[in-house]
Amino acid sequence: MIWMAPSLLAADPAHLGDAAAAVPDADWLHIDVMDGHFVPNLTFGPPLVQALSRRARPPLDLHLMIEAPERSVEQYVRAGARRIAVHAEAAGHLHRLLQTLGSLGVERAVAINPATPPEAVEWVLDECEAILVMTVNPGWGGQRLIPSTLRKVERLRATLDSRGLDRRIVVDGGIDLETVAAAVRAGADTLVAGSAVFGSGDPAGALARLRAAAEG
Ligand code: DX5
Ligand code: ZN
Repeated sequence: MIWMAPSLLAADPAHLGDAAAAVPDADWLHIDVMDGHFVPNLTFGPPLVQALSRRARPPLDLHLMIEAPERSVEQYVRAGARRIAVHAEAAGHLHRLLQTLGSLGVERAVAINPATPPEAVEWVLDECEAILVMTVNPGWGGQRLIPSTLRKVERLRATLDSRGLDRRIVVDGGIDLETVAAAVRAGADTLVAGSAVFGSGDPAGALARLRAAAEG
């Protein structure tokens, strides 16, 4: 089953609550937490996440693009996160952090940047439910998908299949009506989309069209 996760990053920051409420049929609501260090941009903090959890029907999917994520994961869980993606590049002790997230009761994803090899997740597959492959460089919405990242999705899916592991592969960045089918063909089953959903005047309609294109 394909899961759709619209990203609030592309919504009007002055109307985030309305945007969160505008996509009740999403499987997850993706929230991009940026700290101005791991990536240059600065976005959502725990109080805002908590406020949004009251307006959103879908569970909150937090993508932490922050340094030292171990310092704040608990705060984000308390704020209402149901899934948390941490970057392999940012976590000094990734395995331990994933164990902590597991004990906090949230779904866990390991995120990897375009230049990070798929092997970066190989030894933590038993401690996560999903792998998030960045299909653009993290920091901003509205960029074009980097084609080589889909080769990485293929490699990861082949590795998972050969080991008999059932894990979600999330793709994030540049997913739209033009690219979504290729991402699914490569092996992705969870699709994050910001501008393709909230850049449109009708987010719910745009989400439904994207889902139909993904399901082919
Ligand atoms: C980028 C974020 C993405 C972003 C995707 O750093 O991780 O979630 O919102 O935006 P689009 O879909 O516009 O590329
Ligand atoms: Zn994201």
